Amino acid sequence: MKQVTFHQLKVFEVTARRGSFTRAAEELFLTQPTVSIQMKQLTKAVGLPLFEQVGKRLFLTQAGQELLNTCQDIFERLSQFEMTISDLQGLKRGQLKLSVITTAKYVIPRLLGPFCEQYPGIDVSLIVTNHESILERLRDNLDDLYIPSQSPDNIDVHCHSFLDNPLVVLASRNHPLAREKFIPIERLNGQAFIMREPGSGTRQAVEKLLHDRDIAIRVRLELGSNEAIKQAVAGGLGISVLSRHCLALEGETGQLVILNVEGFPIERHWHIVYPKGKQLSVVARTFFDYLQTDGKRVLAETALL
Ligand code: PGA
Repeated sequence: MKQVTFHQLKVFEVTARRGSFTRAAEELFLTQPTVSIQMKQLTKAVGLPLFEQVGKRLFLTQAGQELLNTCQDIFERLSQFEMTISDLQGLKRGQLKLSVITTAKYVIPRLLGPFCEQYPGIDVSLIVTNHESILERLRDNLDDLYIPSQSPDNIDVHCHSFLDNPLVVLASRNHPLAREKFIPIERLNGQAFIMREPGSGTRQAVEKLLHDRDIAIRVRLELGSNEAIKQAVAGGLGISVLSRHCLALEGETGQLVILNVEGFPIERHWHIVYPKGKQLSVVARTFFDYLQTDGKRVLAETALL
């Protein structure tokens, strides 16, 4: 491995990620034969094939996968080193990778504005996804910080409670239940319901409550987006359960109302999570501290709490 260059590792990482020499060449502004030669030399230095080709796509061999994990470690350590040097120079600079649960997208982008203004050298990438996919990203150590609604059971993590995330029953303003002051949970029996997709934490929480109370709703539609569910509820397709934060902008003034159903809201909390053993970069630590201090103040000022 002594002859391996940093450039070859970079080319390898992009080829592995894009699954093709041609696409890697495009991303790196190189020619396809250059990428191919670099990968031949790297394979020779490793002494085992790194890729296998099935159809037009390249797949990693076991040796290739090991090398990819090693490259990712090296690049992450280097980027942390860069951030530490910037910090020593009195600057906060670098990349912050966040992945947050779908409901937190109503809050976290609001916090990023003042944060990025305070630290203009920090670039942020924000992934918004459901509970199951956050856990996968956490397991694969893809991001700096994660904001799920539930602390993961079987992954060893640092977990700090962040904000409340109550799940409420939503209906269209014209729904017959919207006129009732208090609704016993049994009234949900047989109601047309719009449900989130499998893998959603909201769905798990709703199914658990309904199962515990022996309530059988009628799932009329399954949708993978909170915004689409709001539209379907407003369009009279049925009721649903979503985070109260999903109404952040319009409140209850629009076509949606929150029903006062027994057993609701389901109390959930967002957490700030990162894997045990992970050393937070300077930039990630700065955002973590910001969330716990100035971030909460910003939310209170914008009336999102
Ligand atoms: P979900 O999670 O997007 O997986 O439903 C929402 C939440 O638990 O806040």
